[in-house]
Formats: sequence, C-alpha cells, structure tokens
Amino acid sequence: MKKPKISVIGAGYVGLCTAVGFASKGYNVVACDVDEEKIAKINKGVPPFHEPGLQEKLSESIQKGNLKGVVGQTDQVIQETDLTFIAVGTPSKSDGSIDLKYIESAVINIGKALSQKDAYHVTIIKSTVVPGTTQNIVKSKLEKESKKKCGTDFGLCINPEFLRQGSAFEDTLNADRVVIGSYDKRSGDTLERLYKAFYSFHMPLIIRTTLSTAELIKYASNAMLATKISFINTIANICEKIPGADVKVVAKAMGLDKRIGPLFLDAGLGYGGSCFPKDIKALIVCSKSLGYDPELLDSVEAVNKTQPLKAVDFCKEQLGCLEGKKIAILGLAFKPDTDDMREARVIPIINQLLKEGAHVVAYDPVAMPIAKTIFLSKIQFATSALRCIKDADGCIVVTEWDEFKKLTPEDFTKNMRHPILIDGRRIYNPEIFGTKLQFTALGLGKK
Ligand code: UGA
Repeated sequence: MKKPKISVIGAGYVGLCTAVGFASKGYNVVACDVDEEKIAKINKGVPPFHEPGLQEKLSESIQKGNLKGVVGQTDQVIQETDLTFIAVGTPSKSDGSIDLKYIESAVINIGKALSQKDAYHVTIIKSTVVPGTTQNIVKSKLEKESKKKCGTDFGLCINPEFLRQGSAFEDTLNADRVVIGSYDKRSGDTLERLYKAFYSFHMPLIIRTTLSTAELIKYASNAMLATKISFINTIANICEKIPGADVKVVAKAMGLDKRIGPLFLDAGLGYGGSCFPKDIKALIVCSKSLGYDPELLDSVEAVNKTQPLKAVDFCKEQLGCLEGKKIAILGLAFKPDTDDMREARVIPIINQLLKEGAHVVAYDPVAMPIAKTIFLSKIQFATSALRCIKDADGCIVVTEWDEFKKLTPEDFTKNMRHPILIDGRRIYNPEIFGTKLQFTALGLGKK
C-alpha cells in the first residue's frame, strides 16, 4: 500500500523527532518551522539542538530525499501531504494558562489551505493543550477557515507525545503507548493505520478515546511524574532530620513494590525543563477555571519551588557567610544529555548564590553556550569539571552527567580550597565520599 505523505508543523524536539522518525522509515515528510536558521540546519542534515541518535537519521533522511525542511507553512505543503502533525509550542502565560497563539496560527493556515483541497486530510495535534482546546478552538477555526465540515470533509485527532528530552528520538521509535483522541472514527482509523504501519511488529498498545480524554491523559501523566518527584523529595527532606536515614534506600525498597514502581523516585533538587513546570501550572489553572481546586498539585509545585534552594542552605551550613566565597557548580542543563536550560533548577540556585555575594564558576558538558545567554558575565564558566572546582570553597552537583559520576574524592580534595561537596543529585557513594571530604548529600540523615 502507498505510504501517506506527512507534514509536521514546528521543528522543536517533538516535531523534528516525529518528522525524522517517519522519514527514517521511508515516509515522505515535510518539516515546517518559522525559524529560517533552524530549517537551513535541518536541510543540511544538522539537528538544531542536542538530541542523541537524531543526527545520523536526520542526515540520512535528508540525503535520501525523504525529509525536507520548509520555512513557514505554505498552502502547497498541505496540498501535497495527507496528514499534518502540529507540534508547535504552547508556552505559559503569566497566569500559568497556556498561550495558544502558535497553535491558532498553524490551524488558521491549515484551514485556509483545506478550503482549496478536495482530498481528505487529517490534522493531528501533538502539542500539549488543555482539555477542550481541540474541540472548541482547533475544530471551529479549521471549519471557519476551510468552510468545510470536520468529520465529513476533513479529519481531526489529538495524539499527545510522551517523549523525554535526551532520549526523544529513541522514545519516538519505541513508544510505551500511542494515545489517539479523535473527533470521529474515520480520523482515528486513519491515524491508527499510520502508526500500525510505522511500528509494524513492535506496535505499542493503542488507546482510542475522545479528544478531551486524550488531552487530559497527557497532563495527568506529567502531573503524576511530577508528583512522584515532589513526593520523594519530601521523603528526602524528612530523611535529613533522621540520623542514619537515607532516601536512596527508601526509594529502592519502595520501588520494588509493583504498585509503586522504581522510576521517577530519584530525590534531588527538583524537576525542571519545558514540560513539567508548565504543564502542572496549566493543569492547576484549567482545573480552577472548571471550579475544582487541585490542592495536591499546588503542593507538588510548592515542594519543587523550595527544593533547589536547599543546595544553597547546605552551602551556608558548611561555609557560614557566602560573601566572596568561590562556589563551583557542576551541571547547568535541566537534566543530563540535553543542552536545554528551560526552568533548570540551577537558575534559582545561582541567583541565590549571587544574592548572597558568592563568586560562581560553572561547568556543563553541553549547556554552557545557552547558560552564557542567561547569566552573561555574572558568573564564570570553566572548560572542564576539574578546572571548575579548582580553588573552590564549595561545590554543588546540580545535574547528574555521567562525567561527574567518575570524579573521585581525591579530585575534590586535591583541587578545592575547602573540600566541601554538596551532592544535589545523589550520584556519589556517601560511604566513600563521606569519610574523605566534607560531604552533604540530599536526603541523607546526619550521622
Ligand atoms: C517529561 C516527561 O518525562 C515526558 O514523558 C513528556 O513527554 C515530556 O515531559 C513532555 O511533556 O514533553 P522531560 O521534561 O524531557 O520529559 O524530562 P524528564 O526526564 O521527565 O525529567 C524532568 C525533570 O524531572 C528533570 O529536571 C529531572 O532531573 C527531574 N527528575 C526526573 C527528578 O528530579 N527525579 C526523577 O526521579 C526523575
């Protein structure tokens, strides 16, 4: 059977991984983005952001002619393709609700193009949108602009993504589940057929449901994961008050209970990134607007807000006043294997250290170019982890990059002025590090 042609609007990590995923399996894909520089890179086979595994498949797809990047979203792209995924951003507004301007502009353009198209076309929302958006805003705009009827003349689905940055391409090829919310049966069947052919023998479980249930599945999943993190951080904070207690052991034992599971129980300095903070806020605002106050989610957010500042408190406990002290920061990205610094926990940490008069030196294997645009000349950047800790009075591990895990107690004692180490991500063995330097680990009760 002939493969359908696909267009993807928005070439961020979700859109581009989706586009390259389909292109790598022989589909003809057009990736559209308003950012000319990004499209120029894509057409040269160079990913515009750091995402493991993407480079090879992107350049291969461009070379084979399966993928092309297009600036903007031309009518022609909609005319020439059968399905369009919308994967544009839905950033937070100041009140925490989501800004739909990019979705609306993409939908208006698609609607206009559909008014000129006779063949059946399905629009699929991949962006994260609050329940009701696809039905109330996307559908009505598509109908208004195309002067056609959804469900009869064209199709509409919502297909939330569950990709993690740093393994987004891998997650695209090996999903846990595919959620398809559809306006009508034909739209859903068309998308289900596409995924069945794409995944072939490795087809994950498909959940077919309504538009609003699919929209909520995405928020509920992220809210559950964020809740697990704030929960284990709460347990970590309790552990610190109990001599001999260790959150790592508590989490390991809890995780063996099949009803709880071992993942997302790593205590640390809290969650960051472009998804959890934004999605929790949006779900709270959405729920309140519907007349229900989700107190649990307010607490999840509150724990996450104070958690990073504990690193600064630990520093003060060890060093007293931080004025003029050199503090080394290992890790800037919101998690390892990405250069993304959106809502990175290091931002409130560094801001607080600067406020206390500390002199901050930071190192990250890939996020420094982005960090330089955030902190400008307010902090210094080192070219390696060892140079970063050189002559430091204290060191905080903020992101658990593999290369930091390889550092030994001697690396710290030999290089630092005062070997004070704060392990904010629990990467070091307290039995070893605790005896050789002044070591504070999150979620570890004092002896
Ligand atoms: C998250 C979800 O995991 C994806 O399923 C979802 O598709 C994505 O959001 C999205 O909505 O687009 P991501 O933001 O890439 O993915 O990162 P995660 O791996 O989930 O980590 C988020 C934050 O939680 C990081 O700051 C990480 O350090 C922190 N975290 C994670 C912990 O503090 N402890 C843990 O046990 C796990």
